[in-house]
Amino acid sequence: MPFTPPRIAPPTRALSVFETLRAARRNVLEIIPGLSYVQPMVSGRLGSRWHMVQDPGALRRIFLDNVGNYPKSGIMLRMLRPAVGDSLFTSEGDSWRRQRRTVAPVFAQRNVTALAPMMTATAERTAERLARSGGQPEIVGEMLSATFDVICDVALSGREHFDVELYGRAIIRYMETVGRASVLDFLHVPNWMPRPGAVLGKGSVRTMHAMVSRAIEERRRALAGAAGAGRAKGAAGAADDLLDHMLKAEDAETGRRMTPEELLHNMQFFIVAGHETTALALSWSLLLLAGDPEAQEHGRAEARAALGDAPAGAEHIALTPYVGQVIEEAMRLYPPVGLLARNVRRADVLAGRRIMPNDTLFLPIFALHRHRMWWDDPDAFDPENFAPGKAAQRDRYVYLPFGAGPRVCVGANFAMMQAHIILATLLARFRFAPGDGPPPVPTMSMTVRPEGGVRLKVTPLQGDFKRA
Ligand code: HEM
Repeated sequence: MPFTPPRIAPPTRALSVFETLRAARRNVLEIIPGLSYVQPMVSGRLGSRWHMVQDPGALRRIFLDNVGNYPKSGIMLRMLRPAVGDSLFTSEGDSWRRQRRTVAPVFAQRNVTALAPMMTATAERTAERLARSGGQPEIVGEMLSATFDVICDVALSGREHFDVELYGRAIIRYMETVGRASVLDFLHVPNWMPRPGAVLGKGSVRTMHAMVSRAIEERRRALAGAAGAGRAKGAAGAADDLLDHMLKAEDAETGRRMTPEELLHNMQFFIVAGHETTALALSWSLLLLAGDPEAQEHGRAEARAALGDAPAGAEHIALTPYVGQVIEEAMRLYPPVGLLARNVRRADVLAGRRIMPNDTLFLPIFALHRHRMWWDDPDAFDPENFAPGKAAQRDRYVYLPFGAGPRVCVGANFAMMQAHIILATLLARFRFAPGDGPPPVPTMSMTVRPEGGVRLKVTPLQGDFKRA
């Protein structure tokens, strides 16, 4: 009997403008209509015309074939720009092309693999923390700590120049203020009108920027010093890491390096966006495995056979394919980025429907991944959906946790490696069972989170798991 984890009941009738606004503030997933799970495209009007697109052919046109016609929506950009300016994620046109050419090589598989030892060290620390936690730790908090640890190490020279607590509080404050879709955005009030959230969030942005700038400056000085002394090491003594690569990265076409402002904004984006999404993929993976002891045993047997008592490293990834399948399946059921939005420049036809300039497109990844037409038993947890060869039988555009086309997530390799290393290590050392109380439902403001967090019973397994 397959395990069916928590889901939300989508609205079965059209919502009024105010119901939509209320739902969007409470839980963005609640604005996705029930029809989006059974039909290729759903359209409506809210100020301007909108369309929810779940058709793989139409998604391919938006992400790839006619990508220039579909710039990112102003709503998303407004939430992010105060913190990350015109970074890779938030830029368009020439500025985006230049930054993409500069940043993509930084995340090449070779460079990401070189960061694996830092991920392994974090997996070890996370396991030690869980072993001490006793009872029923809150898993989202634990995973946020773990992925923040990794990003601090690879992007900020570790924690020694950086007040992690202060930065963590600033992120939360930012998400609660600027990061919430403003009612004014949905009503198409002009951009120059100040949003209450944006005003409240200014202090947190200043705090984050000051801290990241300081870390970059420290590293710049350390690199200059190391070059003088004939070494090329990071300030914390780490080998080439993300920050080193970003400082040295240049656009292969023009040889141009990033300006200090571009560097600050991109590093800031990597920190905020990169760690939360990955922590959620991990938290949902553990919640799903806790509800499906058979799948958990399968993953554990594989991890134990590959790792023995050692924590996982890059070399164990190919040896633990089922662990990867669990993460993929967790991101199918709970894609950390559950909804994307795009504007329309020129008239076009999508899934046989005419769309017009200034219409808004919503791409509900959450509904796409549970769509009745593209998936068998779509609400059930089944890592076999990602068994070798299975993806090849599917349309590429029915599974889009990292987006697609030229704007596909540049950090996907990094995120998958980090999640895999941490999950394999934890599975080999602990048994996870559902905590007391009902399982959390998914809720989305910027990302798809388990409402109220995840409490699991975590039992250390017998054996000596000292660092190998
Ligand atoms: C499980 C973890 C992650 C998920 C689910 C995720 C998801 C996504 C998605 C869906 C997009 C495309 C957005 C769009 O088309 O509008 C994206 C873009 C992006 N992601 Fe990720 N991401 C993850 C981790 C990371 C990490 C770890 C980093 C960096 C350290 C990162 C950096 C970026 C950047 C810079 C872009 C913009 C790329 C461009 O526009 O050229 N992401 N991500």
